[in-house]
Amino acid sequence: MSEHVRVLLSEEMVDARIQAIGEQISRDYAGKQVHLICVLKGGSFFMCELAKRITVPVSLDFMSVSSYGSDTKSSGVVKIVKDLDESLKDKHVIVVEDIVDSGRTLSYLLEMLQDRGPASLRLCTLLDKPDRRVKEVFVDYTGFEIPDQFVVGYGLDYNQRYRNLPYIGVVEFD
Ligand code: IMP
Ligand code: MG
Repeated sequence: MSEHVRVLLSEEMVDARIQAIGEQISRDYAGKQVHLICVLKGGSFFMCELAKRITVPVSLDFMSVSSYGSDTKSSGVVKIVKDLDESLKDKHVIVVEDIVDSGRTLSYLLEMLQDRGPASLRLCTLLDKPDRRVKEVFVDYTGFEIPDQFVVGYGLDYNQRYRNLPYIGVVEFD
């Protein structure tokens, strides 16, 4: 079975939207420093592009999580594979994600990060699939709301491929 990727959001559309979010964050955090947290691997492309467009001082950190086995998936408990290098204490933290789908990963993660004493904590996601939500998650900055379709590109993978596409596409099987 062969597959191809249909463009859903072009590179120009994604770039323009990231520019707008960068400007919004720069306004919202005027006079402050923001600490961006990237959830690997999917959030990495978006975070780099976003960081380049933020004009207030920025620091960055990375973490990697994985869901426990399928039994506990519904509980949303995630395992930290790589934790942050720095403390969040008194920082203005923005978690930068590729996509919010069921919301399980993010609702767990945000609760855990909140316990680390940041001055503020917000969530920024490139994509949101609200139809798929199981756990309520408040998203502060959203790139695009998309329908319930499996998408790739801009950090999102299908079997670890397609993360490098500079646009968002839908995998279609021929
Ligand atoms: P959630 O806990 O269900 O919100 O899981 C979100 C994670 O599932 C994302 O960070 C992605 O890694 C993955 N994911 C969800 N939807 C898609 C998709 O359409 N394409 C690729 N990965 C996805
Ligand atoms: Mg992710």
